Amino acid sequence: MKKRVAVLGSTGSIGNQTLQVIRNLRDSFELIGLSGGDNLELLVKQIKEFRPKIVSIKSESNARKLKELFPDIQVEYGMEGLTSVACHDDVDIVVTALAGGIGLVPTYNAIKERKNIALANKETLVMAGNIIINEAKNNNVEILPVDSEHSAIFQCLNGNKRHQVNRIILTASGGPFRGLKKKDLSSVTPEKALKHPNWNMGKKISIDSATLMNKGLEVIEARWLFDINYDKIDVVIHPQSIIHSMVEFIDGSILAQMGETDMRVPIQYALTYPDRVFNTYHKLDLSKRDVLTFEQPDLETFPCLSLAYEAGRMGGTMTAVMNGANEEAVRMFLENKISFLEIPLVIERVMGKHILIKNPGISDVLEAEKWAKEEAYKYKH
Ligand SMILES: NC(=O)c1ccc[n+]([C@@H]2O[C@H](COP(=O)([O-])OP(=O)(O)OC[C@H]3O[C@@H](n4cnc5c(N)ncnc54)[C@H](OP(=O)(O)O)[C@@H]3O)[C@@H](O)[C@H]2O)c1
Repeated sequence: MKKRVAVLGSTGSIGNQTLQVIRNLRDSFELIGLSGGDNLELLVKQIKEFRPKIVSIKSESNARKLKELFPDIQVEYGMEGLTSVACHDDVDIVVTALAGGIGLVPTYNAIKERKNIALANKETLVMAGNIIINEAKNNNVEILPVDSEHSAIFQCLNGNKRHQVNRIILTASGGPFRGLKKKDLSSVTPEKALKHPNWNMGKKISIDSATLMNKGLEVIEARWLFDINYDKIDVVIHPQSIIHSMVEFIDGSILAQMGETDMRVPIQYALTYPDRVFNTYHKLDLSKRDVLTFEQPDLETFPCLSLAYEAGRMGGTMTAVMNGANEEAVRMFLENKISFLEIPLVIERVMGKHILIKNPGISDVLEAEKWAKEEAYKYKH
C-alpha cells in the first residue's frame, strides 16, 4: 500500500526537497495534495508532474488561474485551502513545510482529522506545543520530526528508555556570523545574513539561523516533541554540522546521529519511518573530514537563544508572542526597516509587555501571536 501524502508549502525549500524524495520513491508514495504561496509558476510545474487530487494557493486570483489550467483538480486558496489540503480524505501523512506561524492552524486541523504529521514547521510547536501534543495523543497521531536536529534526537532515542535520558544536546552551526561580536554586526545587510555556511534554506529560517533564534525555536520544539524539561536541553555550536544532535544518557554515554547536510535524509526518514530505505544521496565519508569542533554559544552577541529559553520557561502564550514578534522583526529586517541587532530588542520589548495566559486554548494562542506582531510593528511605525 502506498502512503498518501499532502505537502503544505510544496514550493519552498523543504517542500521542494520533499518532492525530490517522493520522486525517488514513487512506488512507496502517492502525492494527494500540494500547496503554494506566491510562486504560481513552480506550483503549476509540480501539479503537471504529480497530478495531485487537491491543491491550494495563497490568493483567490491565482486559484482562479489554476482552476482554468486544471479543471479536473480541486483548487482551494488561503488559510482554509491549506486546511482542505491537509485534511483531504485520502491523505495519510501531511508534510508541514510552511514557514512561520501560518503552519499552526492547518496542522492542528489535520491532527484532529487523525492525519500523521511529518513536522518541518517548528513554529507550530513553538506557538502551541502543549495543545498540539495533547491533541496528537488524543487522536493517536504520530508527529515525526523533519528538522535534522530533532530527527537526530528521535533516532538516538529509538530503542532507549526515556527515563534514562540525562540531557539532549542540540547542535548549531552558529550561522554566518559565528565568531563576530556586536560591534561587527551593527551594519550587516539582509543579503549577508541570508548566506548560511552549510544549509540552503528559506529566508525566514536563514535569518533565524543568523540570530540563533532558530536554535531557540528548536529548543522549544524539542521540549514538546520529546517531553523533556528546558534544564535538560543544551545547545552546542558545531560549525561543521556533521553531528546533527546528540542524546546523553544517565550512564554518561552520548549517542550522536551524523550525516551530510542534506535535508532529504531526515525528510525521507520521517516519511518511511519506521523503515529505512536506500537512496543515492551523497554519503558522509569521515576519512575526508579533518576536524569536528564544538564551542559554547555566544549569548551576549546572540541574545535570541536566551529569549527563547525564557519564553519557553514562562510557557503559556509567551512562546506564541515570542514567535510572532520574531516573525515581524525578521520581516522588518528583510525590508531594511530595522537593523540586525534590533531583532532581539523588538522581541524583548514585546515579550515584556505581554500579559501571560497560563493555559491557553488555540484561539488565545492565535490572538497572542497577532497582538505580538502588531506590537513589534509599532517599534518602527
Ligand atoms: N529549509 C530548511 O532547510 C529547513 C530545515 C529545517 C526546518 N525547516 C523549517 O521548515 C519550514 C519551512 O522552511 P523553508 O526553508 O522550506 O521555507 P520557505 O522556503 O520559505 O518555504 C515556505 C513555503 O510556505 C509557503 N507559504 C509562505 N507563506 C504562505 C502563505 N501565506 N500561504 C500559503 N503558503 C505560504 C511558500 O510559498 P511560496 O514560496 O510559493 O511563496 C513556500 O512553499 C520552517 O518552519 C523552517 O523552520 C526548514
